[in-house]
Amino acid sequence: MKRTYIKDLSKEVGQEVTISGWVDVRRDQGKMVFMDMRDMTGKVQGVVLPNHPEAIEQVKEVRNEWVLSVTGLINKRPERNVKAGVLNGDIEMEITGIEVLNKSETIPFDISGDTKEINEEVRLKYRYVDLRSDRMQKNIRNRHKVIKFIRDYLDNENFIEVETPILTKSTPEGSRDYVVPARLYPGKFYALPQSPQQYKQLLMTAGVEKYFQIARCMRDEDTRGDRQPEFTQLDMEMSFVKQEDVMELNEKLLIELVTKLYPEKKIQQIPFPRLTYAEAMEKYGNDKPDLREDKNDPDLLAFCWVIDFPFFEKTDTGAWTFTHNPFSRPKPEHVEWLMKKENIGEILTTQYDVALNGMEIGGGSIRNHDPEALRKVFEIMGHESDAIDRNFGHMMTAFSLGTPPHGGIAWGLDRFVMTLQNEPNIREVIPFAKTGEGKDPMMDSPAEISVDQLLELGITLRKK
Ligand code: AMO
Repeated sequence: MKRTYIKDLSKEVGQEVTISGWVDVRRDQGKMVFMDMRDMTGKVQGVVLPNHPEAIEQVKEVRNEWVLSVTGLINKRPERNVKAGVLNGDIEMEITGIEVLNKSETIPFDISGDTKEINEEVRLKYRYVDLRSDRMQKNIRNRHKVIKFIRDYLDNENFIEVETPILTKSTPEGSRDYVVPARLYPGKFYALPQSPQQYKQLLMTAGVEKYFQIARCMRDEDTRGDRQPEFTQLDMEMSFVKQEDVMELNEKLLIELVTKLYPEKKIQQIPFPRLTYAEAMEKYGNDKPDLREDKNDPDLLAFCWVIDFPFFEKTDTGAWTFTHNPFSRPKPEHVEWLMKKENIGEILTTQYDVALNGMEIGGGSIRNHDPEALRKVFEIMGHESDAIDRNFGHMMTAFSLGTPPHGGIAWGLDRFVMTLQNEPNIREVIPFAKTGEGKDPMMDSPAEISVDQLLELGITLRKK
């Protein structure tokens, strides 16, 4: 018989239907057995009555989390048993036949609660079980809705999604790269992207004008609650725009997304307040201030923009380095300082960060599309001329072949979804997350590779 989804059962009162899914709970009461079933659309209470002896015999074998196809009659529940406001609270399935599709051992932990109390390493080892819990299902399903909303919204604004390479070259974005040995070129390595920064800028040279991507980024840094070695950005870039255009579009997108998908949430202030970096540091002592008036309210969202960051800062050794993004353009009134390499510490960048409840959830800038000005940035940071050409020659060349002025931003999508879902860390909204120590206990990675693989790659391991 054709499969009916559990959410549609209340339309089938008086009918015999077949559902497929997992045994959510089974309560053996001797003469009759209750068995609740679960599929991706919800749950339903089922019961096997003594007048179906064959089904009774089958259901006695069945255990929680077995995968079944179940056939039965949909009955209205007597008035006194109706559970108002619960999916299928007014019906019950009188089970007449059971087909076992897959048996299950006792699962490693209880998923009837929210699994937050379970040891996280165990949850990650059996992530596919953990993801069955109501809370984790909501997290992955709502994450999908957020991404779908973004895609539809940006498509409607004439953006196109373009994929950029995963095997690429080390870029100076402030973190350590993950590298991949190139078998065909012994001693050479690809790097995994820390972000699609250079590619998205080159797409502007390519005439795309409005680009976005739900992009995976890899950074070899210490993991924390809001950091993972690989994470997802909503990455975007636009041509012929000013700082205001990018900020305005993103603010509208954030507001509409929250209003449509999370109507229970309240955005504290619209338009989002804007602070300069100097103000934020002076008033709050950090550049991602938590502006919530009531920090106990899980449904309060306090967005703010932070702007006017210094372009450069001094490293421990006294050299200059960039604070955010070497490809940013200084504020228009400070471009001259950059060109003359004057007042370096006072040059402000067009960088804009968006903070939410005390967390940086995004950042971007207008870019430096003048090849000479970009060269100055690297000169200030002490790069030799031939190193600049070697590392960034492709960018300079592109910028001398018809590149429109452009700018963009990237959101930390995991962090944003984590806040929307009221989760304490991003691992809760990343389906297959790594542990705080950067391990995947399910796949047991990172892992050694075989001697043959090492040989093929021309790699010798040195004992530590
Ligand atoms: P940035 O490095 O600021 O900018 O990254 C953008 C946003 O990504 C999130 N983020 C992270 N989330 C989880 N785990 C991490 N390890 C992690 N690192 C960063 C943050 C951050 O605001 N190419 C530029 C963007 C641009 O200029 O357009 C970039 O990557 O929420």
